[in-house]
Amino acid sequence: MIFWRIKPLDQILATAEKKALKRQLGPIQLTLLGIGAVIGTGIFVLTAEAAQKAGPAMMLAFVIAAIVCGLAALAYAELAAMVPVSGSAYTYSYGVFGELIAWIVGWALVLEYAIGATAVCVGWSGYMNGLLMHSDMFGLVKPGAIALPEYLRTGMYSGGGFNLLAFLIGIAVTWLLVIGTSKSARVNAVLVAIKIIALTVFVLIAVPAAKSGNLEPFLPGGWGNPLGGGVGVLGAAASIFFAYVGFDAVSTAAEETRNPNRNIPIGLIASLGICTIFYLLVGYGAAGSIGAQPMLGANGLPLDPGTPEMTAACASHAQALVCSNEPLAHVMRVLGFAEIGNWIGIAAIVALPSVILMMMFGQTRIFFTMSRDGLLPDALSAVHPRFYTPHVITYLTGAVVSICAALFPVGKLADTSNAGTLLAFAMVAIGVLVLRKRQPDRARPFRTPLAWIVCPLAVAGCALLFWNLSNVAKIVFLVWAAIGLVIYRAYGYRRSQLANGGGA
Ligand code: ALA
Repeated sequence: MIFWRIKPLDQILATAEKKALKRQLGPIQLTLLGIGAVIGTGIFVLTAEAAQKAGPAMMLAFVIAAIVCGLAALAYAELAAMVPVSGSAYTYSYGVFGELIAWIVGWALVLEYAIGATAVCVGWSGYMNGLLMHSDMFGLVKPGAIALPEYLRTGMYSGGGFNLLAFLIGIAVTWLLVIGTSKSARVNAVLVAIKIIALTVFVLIAVPAAKSGNLEPFLPGGWGNPLGGGVGVLGAAASIFFAYVGFDAVSTAAEETRNPNRNIPIGLIASLGICTIFYLLVGYGAAGSIGAQPMLGANGLPLDPGTPEMTAACASHAQALVCSNEPLAHVMRVLGFAEIGNWIGIAAIVALPSVILMMMFGQTRIFFTMSRDGLLPDALSAVHPRFYTPHVITYLTGAVVSICAALFPVGKLADTSNAGTLLAFAMVAIGVLVLRKRQPDRARPFRTPLAWIVCPLAVAGCALLFWNLSNVAKIVFLVWAAIGLVIYRAYGYRRSQLANGGGA
């Protein structure tokens, strides 16, 4: 059937060879690239969301999400080393499952990257608003004197009005992308250092302050609802999964990597491993030092984070971890280290825009690859005459990111981004097994260990987390997928380069 037309792997590899990007990244730069893309809103902001769903048991959520990501990373590494070509899961799917599935995966990656960028914009605004509310700007103003009015601090779907700063950071990053700012290895290394120092300082203060009493009751939200719906430990794991997303950025740099077959797996696995260790320590420090009990509704169950009910409950519990939009800075303030809390806020404010930039950049590149394959109109990949950047798609992405950031709560955005990511990860894990059967003799510089156990477990883990996402995120995902299928049938199916004899 024509829907299943497959782009042969050799043809995909030939495309990359023709472009000949300079191969300059080594294992350390790749690991830094991974950490740069991974540490962001997830740990800096969603820790509060995870605590609201799971209480102190959010630490288990961090472990579950790390295991699923670790399994997926092992599968990713095999395909990334075998097909060291840009486009990530979209490209692999084109070579393994054919065009229709590749389209669905590429379309889902748009959720991962664009909505993920939106979530990071909202996370950034949480820290920026926190700083404006608490800082005296080096003695220049009274604390709180330059805070924004409350209705401009959060979006209308999280009990506020218009999240002005989230909107503005989205616009600013769009502009940077249009004028051609891209990931620079040196700037990235500095930002990684800032994030690592901020998390290390947090851990050094919060972990020694942890008391076992703060971890009781440990499981106030239970394990989760078998019917799904984003509650309990599994609901928290499904949300906090966002904190690990981004390591796949390493695989998108395959064409610029020295000895990719060895270095890509190292970069993927090392960046994930380092982030996991930090997250567990931060989760333990936050919950153990000031407690992490959720706000409960009239039915005795945790309220849904990001809803007006939650905002109302938090009005009288401003000290609670789960009520903070800048939880790591908040923990420091509650522990009596207000100045360090401000500095952690500044670290987040400086470092998070690069995560937004990376995600929006990834989104434009996925669209670019899809339009190069003929699945999207050429006009979208028009290049700016002066800056040589794909400005049309960048403006479009920037508009959607900024408007959504101004309106929606961070947790629901992260969940929606996770839905797309989980689909892509699951397809990569299945792809590894399909290729093992179909092309057993193709060179595999990195082999997923125990692939017939690891890959099915990765798929099962992704399915489990998907099921435990909030219902809103699952509905948005399904509507997005349906829109994608209509567009494919109406456009890409006929216009595809592969269908028309091209594609290299
Ligand atoms: N993992 C990235 C973050 O947490 C997307 O911001």
